[in-house]
Amino acid sequence: MEIVKVNLGRRSYSIHLGEKLSQVGRIVKELDIGKKILLVSDSKVFRYYGETVKKSLEKQGCGVFVAKIPPGEKYKSLNQAIKLYEKCVRTKLERGSAILALGGGVINDLAGFVAATYLRGINFIALPTTLLAQVDASIGGKVGVDLSQAKNLVGSFYQPGAVLIDSETLKTLPSREIKNGLSEVVKYGIIKDKSLFEYLEKNLEKIKKLDISSLQRIIEKSVRIKAGIVSRDEREEEGEREILNFGHTIGHSIETAGDYRNYRHGEAVSIGMLKATEIAVAMHLCPSDLLLRIEKLLRRIGLSTRIEKISKRKIYQGLFLDKKKRGGKLHFILPRELGDVFICENVPFHLIRKVLQK
Ligand SMILES: NC(=O)c1ccc[n+]([C@@H]2O[C@H](COP(=O)([O-])OP(=O)(O)OC[C@H]3O[C@@H](n4cnc5c(N)ncnc54)[C@H](O)[C@@H]3O)[C@@H](O)[C@H]2O)c1
Ligand SMILES: [Zn+2]
Repeated sequence: MEIVKVNLGRRSYSIHLGEKLSQVGRIVKELDIGKKILLVSDSKVFRYYGETVKKSLEKQGCGVFVAKIPPGEKYKSLNQAIKLYEKCVRTKLERGSAILALGGGVINDLAGFVAATYLRGINFIALPTTLLAQVDASIGGKVGVDLSQAKNLVGSFYQPGAVLIDSETLKTLPSREIKNGLSEVVKYGIIKDKSLFEYLEKNLEKIKKLDISSLQRIIEKSVRIKAGIVSRDEREEEGEREILNFGHTIGHSIETAGDYRNYRHGEAVSIGMLKATEIAVAMHLCPSDLLLRIEKLLRRIGLSTRIEKISKRKIYQGLFLDKKKRGGKLHFILPRELGDVFICENVPFHLIRKVLQK
């Protein structure tokens, strides 16, 4: 068991790695928060792990209320948030009470958003059960819901009181979801940690077979990287947090252009990372063998490396909708070498069109 700290000025919180979900009661007790808990989960995840979590909390004398949401991104909505607020009122949650999120990124963001806003903020604890949520969504405090116009349009920065990562839960995760999370792990390797990238290259077969110690190793490395970045730039104001968007400029546009039906987030980011690297190579900012090496790893994982069934023109146009949101400049995170990226604001438009056409 390892503890990684996220330090935010006067506040800090712990990420408990390699901890069992059955230990959640003890962790809640140590936090010394109220004994009333709303456990939010998706119905599929709850079927696997709900009772373990509930029992562990009850053993410590907590009163546990459960809210089950159907699985799926479409439930990361204001409608579901309202239903959760109503449940908070009915169960008389108070400022000292806590919301626990048991599930993937959808549950993390939705339950975190309700915790951030109900009574102007109650305690929040994350119990992520997908690889993507364990290495990314549960760390860093971005919470929110989607609107019909776009994803993550309403939200806040709201840090949890603790995060408990039980990697054994990944044993029940479908392989497409494992790949989805691995895409973000590859990203961490490229932006900050050459040794993580090399570890993936060497141990991919074990990881794909869900060997727990290899999974724990990549989760720990990823969590340390994200926790470090968030500790230095909590609200994406200093520039450093923006490097987490490597592969996401084009990736987001691919997701939006495909109406979130064709590609999972990690799959779109996989293509986005390749396109960003192609741009860097074309601008003579990084060597072409880096592109080949990244592409090889993504292919071995089984991630998408090509845009299919989506209009490339739509993806290109989507980039400029995103641009408006960022004060008029289109930002790309480009690699120099493994473990080293930088923010580039002057990628020529013709080059973007060219790499999208490939
Ligand atoms: N807050 C952040 O910083 C941040 C970062 C990245 C992504 N996100 C958000 O995360 C969301 C995507 O998260 P996700 O990929 O985890 O998807 P998800 O929450 O929809 O989970 C994917 C699927 O896996 C199932 N599942 C979850 N855990 C399981 C387990 N252990 N065993 C079996 N099945 C399990 C779920 O029921 C669901 O069907 C998006 O909404 C995205 O915007 C947020
Ligand atoms: Zn991402």
